[in-house]
Amino acid sequence: MKIVNIIGARPQFIKYVPVSKAIEKINASGHPVRDVLVHTGQHYDYSMSKIFFDELGIKEPDYHLGVGSGPHGMQTASVLQKTEEVCLQERPDIVVVYGDTNSTLGGALASAKLHVPIAHVEAGLRSFNKCMPEEINRILTDHISSVLFCPTNAAVDNLCREGFEVRAVNGGPPHISSPLIINTGDVMYDALLYSLKIAEEKSSVLRDLDIAPKTYRVLTVHRAENTDNEVNFKEIIDFVNDTSSGSSILFPMHPRTRKVYENIRTKFSGNVRIIGPVGYFDFLTLVKNSELVMTDSGGLQKEAYWLKVPCVTLRHETEWVETVQSGWNVLYRDYKGSHRPSEAEGLLYGDGRAAERIVETLIGSFECRKCPSGGAHGGPF
Ligand code: UD1
Ligand code: UDP
Repeated sequence: MKIVNIIGARPQFIKYVPVSKAIEKINASGHPVRDVLVHTGQHYDYSMSKIFFDELGIKEPDYHLGVGSGPHGMQTASVLQKTEEVCLQERPDIVVVYGDTNSTLGGALASAKLHVPIAHVEAGLRSFNKCMPEEINRILTDHISSVLFCPTNAAVDNLCREGFEVRAVNGGPPHISSPLIINTGDVMYDALLYSLKIAEEKSSVLRDLDIAPKTYRVLTVHRAENTDNEVNFKEIIDFVNDTSSGSSILFPMHPRTRKVYENIRTKFSGNVRIIGPVGYFDFLTLVKNSELVMTDSGGLQKEAYWLKVPCVTLRHETEWVETVQSGWNVLYRDYKGSHRPSEAEGLLYGDGRAAERIVETLIGSFECRKCPSGGAHGGPF
């Protein structure tokens, strides 16, 4: 069987890790599965891309599309055009896309046009805010996929409200008009469980930055609707300054944000320490040892929850509604100065085996049995 995995942005490198490990495990059991890895090149700075490959042992991509930065149309079209070439060359049994970036949509569109089945990891999430590029990307990707791997029941419910019908896994071959929908749990939880111990052993970030556990807050802001809108960005800066006087705040700043921040007049107070993006092990260490997280990141809202750190989400809505319902996360307009739930609740995002379920499903439903050595189904190309 041949699977093409398409990744290109920071969180996608992390999401791919458990899936690649699950594929390796299947291969070790004697069942051959070829994992063709495509890096779109959407993120390219060392600290946004290669550091994750180096730290997490991600293999060298089989294809590097080198799309780089640019306006949405250009970036998405470039992924679309170049993924088409990869699919024609590789003739995979399935293409797997992750999350909601322009790499996700470009990769999915190229595959759909060639009738290559698509599996969407992190399907069904909705902010119900179509001003977010991510919302457009995830809605469109879900609607052209053949299998929708949801991280939560809320995500499954969102899909049902859009007219998808959940059906039994063995209820016939999956199809775009009737895709499989499975709540697998969240691959980011798998990634976190795998990485925490390594982070504990390897990361010296607290020492390097000369900070003590539970004496600081972690801040991240990078969403286009926050950084590229001066009113929203100023509102966030004011919120952070107003609610955090007396606290040390560490802000590993995303390159998008740095470019905007250098050119605006409103500034964070002196207690906000701005550094560059850090690797995953250092970042988990920083979050785990912080007293509060303030963020507009999707992944970080859940990481704070898993690491039992209260989170303030710097947005007007969130896709990760369970973190708010559990009391660990609060939207910034609702923040009253503190929130400390007594305990993290059970397994809101699965049991750490999401990736294994994903790979088992891909093999069970998409392996081309006529050509077990890998290659095209015949037909769609
Ligand atoms: C993208 C995703 C967003 C995701 C985020 C993860 C889309 C529409 N957005 O946002 O959903 O949360 O990745 O981090 O796909 N830049 C660099 N170096 C890099 C990468 C980017 O300097 O390695 C700068 C460039 O100026 C670029 C800007 O950051 O124009 C934005 O990068 P882009 O990939 O377009 O979007 P993100 O904000 O990273
Ligand atoms: N992250 C990291 N270093 C940083 C900031 C974030 O390794 O300096 C990790 C973080 O642990 C999470 C992921 O990057 O797993 C989130 O990426 P980001 O916030 O860029 O994207 P989003 O999740 O919002 O799509």
